[in-house]
Amino acid sequence: MKEEIILQNHNESTLEKKSLNFDTDSLDNKSSIEQLKKRVSDQFGNDAQLILDSIDEVEGIILRREAREKGDFDDSKAIIHLSGLSKKYQSSGMSPVDALREVDLSIVQGEMVAIIGPSGSGKSTLLQMMGALDIPTTGGVRINFQELSEMNSKELTQFRSQTVGFVFQKFNLIPNLTALENVSIAMESTNMNRQERRVRAAELLKEVGLNKRMNHLPGQLSGGEQQRVSIARALANHPKIIYADEPTGSLDSRASKTIISLFDRIRKNFNTTVIIVTHNHSIAKHCDRTVKIKDGRIR
Ligand SMILES: Nc1ncnc2c1ncn2[C@@H]1O[C@H](COP(=O)(O)OP(=O)(O)O)[C@@H](O)[C@H]1O
Ligand SMILES: [Mg+2]
Repeated sequence: MKEEIILQNHNESTLEKKSLNFDTDSLDNKSSIEQLKKRVSDQFGNDAQLILDSIDEVEGIILRREAREKGDFDDSKAIIHLSGLSKKYQSSGMSPVDALREVDLSIVQGEMVAIIGPSGSGKSTLLQMMGALDIPTTGGVRINFQELSEMNSKELTQFRSQTVGFVFQKFNLIPNLTALENVSIAMESTNMNRQERRVRAAELLKEVGLNKRMNHLPGQLSGGEQQRVSIARALANHPKIIYADEPTGSLDSRASKTIISLFDRIRKNFNTTVIIVTHNHSIAKHCDRTVKIKDGRIR
């Protein structure tokens, strides 16, 4: 298979792009990555950032290919299946916005997928459609083998609280509730009693490494710790899928790494499907594959 690496300088004000074509079939192990690195340095000189980006791309391609070989990408088995999904926002007095255009996407259970694209490209809209927080203009959304358009409002409420979990950039914790209360409140719609909810919340906080912070308020926790509380909250009802919208966007690189390894562990331990919207290419590298979105279209 022929692939093209686009080498793009990280500095957004300089739109310098260079490309290098290569055959992915010749890249099957670390030593061939080393060879490619050398080719890139020979061709483009010692621009460290460009070379680093290209290596991320290559490793990503190999990881994605391994995931395809391991996984079954038969659409009928996809836990997330989008077909011809479009969303047009029409606000009065404003010109309509085509936030998503004819998106087709299939994701299997247990996959960890990064969604990358410029600001305004439709990433959050896509998560909202897949999480039943908003309805598409046209097209189908089948999640966990059910068409969302065929669910009644009671089924949709249950879907939002039980099948999927959300993690946001700004954490969205309730400021006057402790970490434990923020997690246990997510289980209020279940038939667990208060004590059972607190026990499960404590287990989840332990799972995310916060057993010593359970009774702290969000304001008494660091950004990374608050995000771990929100991940514990997202996991409360054993969701099949976690949608994370720029989960490390407000965190420093060290806290970001902790969050990503946490998602990785969750996926391994519970076979949870994890969809992460991010601008960070090194996070995308940790995922099985990257879905690129631009102007509402998947590329
Ligand atoms: N509720 C809304 N009403 C009108 N336009 C919207 C609404 N939400 C998003 N948009 C527009 O849709 C496009 C995609 O937005 P969004 O999905 O938030 O992008 P991203 O998350 O990639 O930054 C943008 O042009 C944005 O301005
Ligand atoms: Mg967004």
